[in-house]
Amino acid sequence: MEFTIKTGAPEKLKTACLVVGVLDGERLAAPAADLGKVSDGVLSAVLASGDLGAKAGATLLVHNPAGLAAQRVLLVSFGKADGFGEKAFRDALGGAAKALASGRADEATVCLVDVEVPGRTPAWNVQTTVRLLADATYRFQAPGAVQKDTDKPAGAQHITLLTRHKVSARLETAVRCGQAVAEGMALAKDLGNLPANVCTPSFLAETARKLGKDFKLKVDILEREDAAKLGMGSFLSVAQGAYEPPKFIVVHYKGRKGKAPPVVLVGKGITFDTGGISIKPAAEMDEMKYDMCGAASVLGTLKAVARLALPINVVGIIPATENMPGGRATRPGDVVTSMSGQTIEILNTDAEGRLVLCDALTYAERFKPACVIDIATLTGACVVALGKIPSGLLANDDALAAELVTRGTESGDRVWQLPLWDEYQDLLKSNFADMANIGGRYAGTITAACFLARYTKAYKWAHLDIAGTAWVSGDAKGSTGRPVPLLTEFLIARSAAVAE
Ligand code: BES
Ligand code: MN
Ligand code: ZN
Repeated sequence: MEFTIKTGAPEKLKTACLVVGVLDGERLAAPAADLGKVSDGVLSAVLASGDLGAKAGATLLVHNPAGLAAQRVLLVSFGKADGFGEKAFRDALGGAAKALASGRADEATVCLVDVEVPGRTPAWNVQTTVRLLADATYRFQAPGAVQKDTDKPAGAQHITLLTRHKVSARLETAVRCGQAVAEGMALAKDLGNLPANVCTPSFLAETARKLGKDFKLKVDILEREDAAKLGMGSFLSVAQGAYEPPKFIVVHYKGRKGKAPPVVLVGKGITFDTGGISIKPAAEMDEMKYDMCGAASVLGTLKAVARLALPINVVGIIPATENMPGGRATRPGDVVTSMSGQTIEILNTDAEGRLVLCDALTYAERFKPACVIDIATLTGACVVALGKIPSGLLANDDALAAELVTRGTESGDRVWQLPLWDEYQDLLKSNFADMANIGGRYAGTITAACFLARYTKAYKWAHLDIAGTAWVSGDAKGSTGRPVPLLTEFLIARSAAVAE
């Protein structure tokens, strides 16, 4: 999808679809405020009819409006002017994006970025708009499927953003950022949506290799034997039940000269989670193909960062394996030794995410990171606690946690912090090892993070539990591409801080 931004007024514009905002269901928003006057009363009459819903995001398509050069006008409700804010802006853009992505116009001029969103800059408006419009055109192409999506219109592929502001470098950058985030999300969505017989650990490794080729990134793939040499007994204990070979993937993005400490992103890459010997119930088990969405978000974010050539160093680490039952699988009660030397009693083989992450977190120490963020579909308890709106956030550093909360709000890809107090650590006591891999009935998201906290003492660390946010179930089942927007925003902001 292509985007251009330019200064101008929409009255005389020739376009297949002119997208215009409406406040209070009756007033056209800038830069199209005067459109009503020139359209021979057509638009005013449409607005007076009340056919455009009052809710932010409602849309109405008007064909061949008299007095205008546009073939169509898409009216988009911003909702009420009173109390108008970020949510209404996003809802409106969501409505417009949906209409454009499923409409017949192959090109559109969008006049939505000039509306003032309290507390936000014009650049934020532009980046948010571009990202939401681009993301809405995402379609998953099922590999090998005979039925293709080709009879549906592809939607608008060329978008011009119209603004009355002067187009500054800042706004041009905002366009690029929005596009890069959507591109990173699309990669993350594709990987998540692919079935587990296609998206294996080897497939993730190949995807990382390809990313490395496309963007000149160094990629290291550690095989089972390499991991064994490093003493990754915890990671390998999960892998031992599976025929598919595990891969420990390391991707280096170097945006700065010299040895600036990198931000390390660690993504859980369980390409299918059966639960192992502590096997899961059959209902909805198919959704456990999404158990590699943490890994997918790391690759998606690296793609966005590389596309933007951000001046920052980033390392992505992905411990990838299936979690399968079988003759070689871990038994409940087995004790394994992690790379850190700490031993773990595996009381439940379904708590495998922390077992692969802990060795990756120990491996991360060698990079002397500025900070480490792990991303994992780690606990069903997180969905119980927070639902599917924010990702769970736990951290050993308050400033890092606050930074992530801010970037989450900015990007609309929100997180909510849970406590990581030492008192919870007692729940992981084991009579037979340094720790158990589960903590009992209560506070499942926190005890999972407490487990990880025992491997992250050497650096500033935050953990994102994306069990509720990485995909949606039901009719619209599919990957969301989260938290690529949050992570990319975080890295953009960190690079800007460096550049200053
Ligand atoms: N991948 C699951 C977590 C999960 C479950 C995410 C459902 C999204 C939806 C994880 O490996 C898991 O099985 N966690 C267990 C932990 C428990 C055994 C302590 C869980 O949440 O039930
Ligand atoms: Mn599990
Ligand atoms: Zn899992």
